[in-house]
Amino acid sequence: MRSVKDSIHKQLETNKSKNLLYIDAAQVIEIEPGFLNTLDEMLASAKQNSSLTREIPYDLVSLSAQLFIEKLYAINQYLRVDPDKVGELEDIYRQSWQKMLETGDIQGTLRAFHYPKLSRWVKALYPDQFLEPLKFTPNIGTVVCEEYSAQFQIDILGIDPEHIREPVMDIGCGREGRLVRYLRSLGIEAYGFDRSLALQKSYLQKKDWFDYPFEADTWGTIISNMAFTNHLHFAYRHDRAQFEQYLLKTREIITSLADGGRFYYAPGLPFIERLLDPAHYHLDRNRVIGDVFVSVLTRISSS
Ligand SMILES: C[S@@+](CC[C@H](N)C(=O)[O-])C[C@H]1O[C@@H](n2cnc3c(N)ncnc32)[C@H](O)[C@@H]1O
Repeated sequence: MRSVKDSIHKQLETNKSKNLLYIDAAQVIEIEPGFLNTLDEMLASAKQNSSLTREIPYDLVSLSAQLFIEKLYAINQYLRVDPDKVGELEDIYRQSWQKMLETGDIQGTLRAFHYPKLSRWVKALYPDQFLEPLKFTPNIGTVVCEEYSAQFQIDILGIDPEHIREPVMDIGCGREGRLVRYLRSLGIEAYGFDRSLALQKSYLQKKDWFDYPFEADTWGTIISNMAFTNHLHFAYRHDRAQFEQYLLKTREIITSLADGGRFYYAPGLPFIERLLDPAHYHLDRNRVIGDVFVSVLTRISSS
């Protein structure tokens, strides 16, 4: 399984700049020789073992889908694959395998069946206004998605670790969860989650923020640096349906603050902040540059 994983990795890495929305995407994708060999070997062993000819092992299907989604997120942090889309992607891998078994033609199946299907699947993730221009670009760059040092986040958000209220939750904490680890090294009860995480721990979970249940009156401090609110801005500009989901989640997040709790986030959300009830929330804003702000929202204690 390890070498299969490596060859899928290599195939994805080889094609990471290829645009699946390009009109002729199936023809510009490179089929990496090691990947082709692996598929050849799998096909040969499947033919010898009749039980394998019926279905590709589930773990291989889910591994392929997972690696593909990780690569997509690394290319464009604003894409989002919800659970039913994961199922569709797994079906594409299953069907492509069946076709390879039926025809014995790996390259033909990839170009005439698999890549066109992947292309249609990716298309549904993009807001309409991006589809037309992307049709004519065979290669694409990556959308920047930085992970910042703990100290940088503390400085920019204006957090004072000595007086931070616990427990702390970092939403979209980054693959390494740097701020969470740093706060914990100071003895602070801190947790974080991110949909892309290098290593899961009891205090660092791999999770999508739409699937994370924020329970009311829970968190002393919530932090989200260049993560939740950055994506909310993107949805506000490009995807109204997703923006509605962001609004609902924002409400859930701020009501999960305990009395006197604080939410530190960048960028700020001026178009939402002006709707907050000043009897319940106090807002501090600091300009970073131009019209980009860091905001600190404090839930006013009811007692
Ligand atoms: C620009 S990075 C910032 C990471 C970290 N907060 C920092 O300042 O270093 C944005 C993070 O948001 C995460 N992210 C994006 N969409 C997400 C989602 N729907 N659910 C959870 N995390 C998400 C990304 O995986 C990425 O690690």
